Amino acid sequence: GAAEGAMTAVRLVCALALLAATPARAEEVPYVQTPQNVVEAMLELAGVRGNDFLIDLGSGDGRIVITAAQKYGASGVGIDYDNYLIKESTDNAAKAGVADRARFLKEDIFETDLSAATVVTMYLLPEFNIRLRPRLLAELRAGARVVSHDWDMGEWAPDAQIEVAAPEKKIGLRKTSKLYLWIIPAQLAGKWETRVPVGDGSMAIELELEQAFQNLGGVARIDGSARPIERSVVRGRYVAFRVDDPAGGSIRFQGNASADRIVGQVATPDGRTHPWRALRVK
Ligand SMILES: C[S@@+](CC[C@H](N)C(=O)[O-])C[C@H]1O[C@@H](n2cnc3c(N)ncnc32)[C@H](O)[C@@H]1O
Repeated sequence: GAAEGAMTAVRLVCALALLAATPARAEEVPYVQTPQNVVEAMLELAGVRGNDFLIDLGSGDGRIVITAAQKYGASGVGIDYDNYLIKESTDNAAKAGVADRARFLKEDIFETDLSAATVVTMYLLPEFNIRLRPRLLAELRAGARVVSHDWDMGEWAPDAQIEVAAPEKKIGLRKTSKLYLWIIPAQLAGKWETRVPVGDGSMAIELELEQAFQNLGGVARIDGSARPIERSVVRGRYVAFRVDDPAGGSIRFQGNASADRIVGQVATPDGRTHPWRALRVK
């Protein structure tokens, strides 16, 4: 509608303003700093703690990694392809007394190994986010958090988003920043086998799960009839959903997923809860 059109126009203006900020080629992300209050809001949104390992993709003067180390006790690496910025950020980390926990590597962000990160931050451009998206989903562990300044991930809806005042912002028409948070979902698509207690025995259920980002669907096969997976929630390793019970009421599942099993509880229509696990068969 009109609101969406206006949003697109605002984004276009922001993108052009960002591109105009330094004389860079059109396919490059120019160096623009995230204002310090916005850096802190990004780290708060990600819930950064001392045991986190953060990677900032396109780290500029290093402020995000350095603040994560200084204020939250985290460790991290900043990636930038600009030699000068790598030197400057390494110096800044030393001055801040966090050289051991805030390191900087001259690398292309599209080559960087992301697998060690529990938090990834970025202030890039929309098409860069989209290009990074499959690697973030595939390489990061379930439960890792991704925070982007100003740009979303297209079809992959954020798990949270906020807008913060950014009076020091050098670009854009409005002095505000949008911050988006995604939590890497467990990979649940496929076939799973499970059993649910009924009376003195149990019934076999086959789950055929379909997944797009954090949206889970599919069917549960009970006694040869397919019942839809409903009211699903996926947040990191946590998964919950419901299935109609053939005898009436609904069966509610919740648990934590790893690659080949989900372990948690199931609530049956009689109001009881039982330990539950499902095993991947495909
Ligand atoms: C908008 S700035 C953000 C800097 C910092 N993260 C911040 O928020 O203050 C983007 C940074 O990404 C770097 N960059 C852009 N494309 C890159 C690439 N392909 N590989 C490595 N660094 C890149 C630029 O040199 C620039 O420092």
